[in-house]
Parts: sequence; C-alpha cells; structure tokens
Amino acid sequence: MQDIFKGKNILIMGVRNKWSIAWGIARAVQPLGANLIFTYLGDREKESIEKLTANMDNVSIYPCDVSSDKELDDLFAEIKEKYGVLHGVVHAIAFAKSEDLQDTFVNTSRDGFHTAMDISAYSLLAVSKRAKELMTEGGSIVTLTYRGSEKVYPGYNIMGVAKAALEASVRYIAYELGPSNIRVNAISAGPVKTMSARGVKNFTDILGVVAEKSFLKRNVTLEDLGGTSVFLLSDLSSGVTGEIIYVDAGYNNMGL
Ligand SMILES: NC(=O)c1ccc[n+]([C@@H]2O[C@H](COP(=O)([O-])OP(=O)(O)OC[C@H]3O[C@@H](n4cnc5c(N)ncnc54)[C@H](O)[C@@H]3O)[C@@H](O)[C@H]2O)c1
Repeated sequence: MQDIFKGKNILIMGVRNKWSIAWGIARAVQPLGANLIFTYLGDREKESIEKLTANMDNVSIYPCDVSSDKELDDLFAEIKEKYGVLHGVVHAIAFAKSEDLQDTFVNTSRDGFHTAMDISAYSLLAVSKRAKELMTEGGSIVTLTYRGSEKVYPGYNIMGVAKAALEASVRYIAYELGPSNIRVNAISAGPVKTMSARGVKNFTDILGVVAEKSFLKRNVTLEDLGGTSVFLLSDLSSGVTGEIIYVDAGYNNMGL
C-alpha cells in the first residue's frame, strides 16, 4: 500500500483551502508516493495551495480556469512537457452564481444556467479529452457529485441539474475512454462544510439531517472521501468504471 502511487502523476483540480474536498483527496494520495499536480483559480488560491503543500515533495502548481479552452490547453501542454504521462485526475470543481442558489429554481437566468453547466459539467469533458492524450499507460478520472442530481434539495437548484449532467457525462466518457484503459467514476459525497457548500441555502440544515438520519449517524469527513479516492485512483478499482459511488454515511439509502 505504501507505494501504491509510486511514479504515478496525479492532477488535482479544485483545492481552494484546507477544507476543500480536493485537499482531503490530495492528503490521502500523497503519502502513497504520487507526484501531485495542482491547479488554482486566482492568486488567493495559488497562495493557499503553496502554503498547504510547503512540506510536500514532488508537487507542481499551475493556473487553470476551466471556462477557458486556452488555459486548459496551456495546462496540459505544461504537464506533457514536465511529466510526459498522466495517471490520474481529480475533478473537484463546481460553480453557480450565488443569486441562482438563493432564489427559486424557475428564476434561474439563461446566463446563470449556462455558467453552472459549463463550469460544473462541461469542464469534465474538456479535462477528460485532454487527459486522455497523456494517459498513455491507462488512467483513472474521478469527479465529485451530490445527490441533489436525483432528488430535490431546496436551494441546490441549478447545481442539481448540473450534477445530473455531470453524472450522465461520467457514463458517456467512461464508455468512450474505456478501450484506452481509462476509467471514469464519480464520488457522490455527503455534505461537507466547504466554501462552495456555504453558498447553498439551508446547507446547515442538510448537515444536521444527515448526522441524525444516516446509517452511520454522522457526516462524512475528508478522510472518508480521501480513502475512496485512493481506491478509485488506484488499480484496487481496476474493474470499476462509469459508476456513481456514494460516500455519504449511508444516507442515500434511508427511506425516512
Ligand atoms: N461540500 C459538499 O458538501 C459537496 C458535496 C458533494 C459534492 N461536492 C462537490 O465537490 C467538489 C469540490 O467542492 P468543495 O465542496 O470542496 O468546495 P471548494 O469551494 O473547496 O472547491 C471548489 C473548487 O472549484 C473551483 N472552481 C470554481 N470555478 C472554477 C473555474 N472556473 N475554473 C477552475 N476551478 C474552479 C474553485 O476555485 C475551488 O477550488 C464540487 O464539485 C462540489 O460540487 C461538494
């Protein structure tokens, strides 16, 4: 286990700060030998990642706004030049305009709808297409979703629709990249208190309900999500692709 990722190059997109799910995943993967490549959005995030990774070896940090094809092209060109081969990608990125998470769903603007779908769902295609070119030894792509794709969580709104598109995209990308031995899966995480989550109206109520009603009677931790990511990014899950895997303390199977 100790060197399960030895010599593996893993791209991690979506670390904003120490509470980010992507950071929980990086913390789980790094001690197992991976070379980590982080992306950031804006200078604040860059500084935050530099601080978090100060004591880590074999780390690179590049800018990437996934709404820009040019920034995506530049990122993968840099990775190709420095690493040649990519083995894993963690896509932990989502965005919706705050007004669209506060108002009623039917009031979502056309622009707000496009923005949320572009950054939260289309970006997985944009990343996967480019990653495929560098995954010449096979690979694993992991994204993050939420149960609001299937059931109504008042306030989750357009993000629920974007997550439904993301989950369908996981299956289509998994189908197309399967022959190249590239697996694509999503973790459907239970609620975690992060910056993005704070934008969702009623988020604290959701945390309380899950803690009370889930099978494990608690919310999930970054360690829970990191552990499943190690499984999905490694050969331990070599036969698993196109799946939406719940890491939510069992809450999704609760009927009442
Ligand atoms: N926190 C939860 O309760 C929860 C539950 C299930 C799924 N998720 C999903 O987990 C993923 C990570 O979110 P998080 O909760 O760790 O929040 P977070 O705020 O810590 O991370 C979100 C990241 O998305 C990035 N991002 C947004 N727009 C971007 C763009 N245009 N280009 C590049 N990056 C961009 C942000 O910069 C940030 O790094 C998201 O897909 C989220 O929907 C979160």
